[in-house]
Amino acid sequence: MTGSSKYTVRNQDTGKEFQLESRPGTVGPDVVDIRNLFTGQGLFTYDPGFGSTAGCESKITYIDGDAGVLMYRGYPVEQLAGHSSFIEVAYLLLYGELPNKAQLAEFDRTIRMHTMLNESVLRFFDGFHYDAHPMAMVAGVVGSMAAFYHDTTNIADARHRDIFAHRIIAKIPTIAAAAYKHSLGQPFIYPRNDLNYCSNLLHMFYAVPAERYDVDPLAAEALDLLFILHADHEQNCSTSTVRLAGSSGANPYSAISAGIAALWGPAHGGANEAVLDMLEEIGDVKHIPKYLARAKDKNDSFRLMGFGHRVYKNYDPRASIIRETCHKVLTRMGGNQPLFELALRLEEIALKDEYFVEKKLYPNVDFYSGIIYRALGIPKSMFTVMFAIARTVGWCAHWREMITDPDGRIGRPRQLYTGATRRDYVAIEKRG
Ligand code: ACO
Repeated sequence: MTGSSKYTVRNQDTGKEFQLESRPGTVGPDVVDIRNLFTGQGLFTYDPGFGSTAGCESKITYIDGDAGVLMYRGYPVEQLAGHSSFIEVAYLLLYGELPNKAQLAEFDRTIRMHTMLNESVLRFFDGFHYDAHPMAMVAGVVGSMAAFYHDTTNIADARHRDIFAHRIIAKIPTIAAAAYKHSLGQPFIYPRNDLNYCSNLLHMFYAVPAERYDVDPLAAEALDLLFILHADHEQNCSTSTVRLAGSSGANPYSAISAGIAALWGPAHGGANEAVLDMLEEIGDVKHIPKYLARAKDKNDSFRLMGFGHRVYKNYDPRASIIRETCHKVLTRMGGNQPLFELALRLEEIALKDEYFVEKKLYPNVDFYSGIIYRALGIPKSMFTVMFAIARTVGWCAHWREMITDPDGRIGRPRQLYTGATRRDYVAIEKRG
């Protein structure tokens, strides 16, 4: 950590000067504190997409996009992926430290205790058309949860905030499974609290009342790993949405629902579904050059899905772990090997292409995740829902941090107004 620095900003036309001060982080770039820029100088900053703006102070996740580093609470994600479990990572993200044995057992027990849904929530699904996109159902049902659990949504009460986080982390797989079963026209399968988080999810997805279903431990293990890698990613679009929605004091279920809606977009979590669509459309290695040419053509809206990232200008560390897992899962479970081989070849060719090299476009977390989901039998329309289940942990951690931040204020960005200046109303009969 370095100390703070002072910057002098000078208006070249008027010669007027003022000072800004930077604040250091524990790692990563300093931030220039501009909180008094408007009240002191009458100036706003302009940063569409927030590429250079730190919207908050956070202790949860750190990314070094140039070095390809991702750490949760200081722990490199590859160490967590190698040694931890999703539930342990959830504890770490929420509470800041790895749990001891007793803490982990208690947290695991608490999450298992909250898996069931109020029966009335389940009846919501009957109102959705059978072919509704599961993300639409999940966002809607999560948003409605405040109507059921309003007795524990006093956001000023730390115990209520805890119960909220435990509830939503425990229930989001149940909601996802209900959406999936509804789309199949199959009966809803109740959670089994003797199973761990991912085994229970697979049970609710694939069991049917008429047959015995045994969870494949390899599938549960692969899912657990994917969930660790998707659990948080600092101030991404959906997390910032959760923070912004929550900053008004809105109930946290609504804030999470807003995050789910933001995640659905193809530039964000919807990319895992879009990657599979793209690979299926490319279909064969011999068509790769045609699609690469399209991705590079400024007049064509086609982008190589699963490539590029706002922050990573190097290999996304999650993508390399997922690529390895993909190989393992496909070898042991059998899966769409040609699709994986096509993805590998596409990556190889793109990474040698001048356009992708120059723009530092590397595979991101979602380039390979869809192939694993497909091998586990999860349909494409559920891919982003899987992402949402994992990211719910990150959203909860950020929402809790935001609510207790002494510097926290309602999120309210300003703008550069370029519309009409003042003008008088013209009666309709006098308009041309
Ligand atoms: N294919 C082709 N060109 C691309 C791609 C791509 N996937 N990604 C970026 N570029 C080009 C852009 O056209 C732009 O070119 P230009 O400078 O000549 O105008 C340049 O690279 C920079 O791209 P931006 O869109 O300005 O970068 P930004 O940081 O705003 O966008 C994003 C990042 C949205 C992830 C982008 O790379 C993209 O659309 N990728 C495909 C979708 C995707 O995989 N999203 C998942 C992201 S990971 C996640 O959210 C879980």
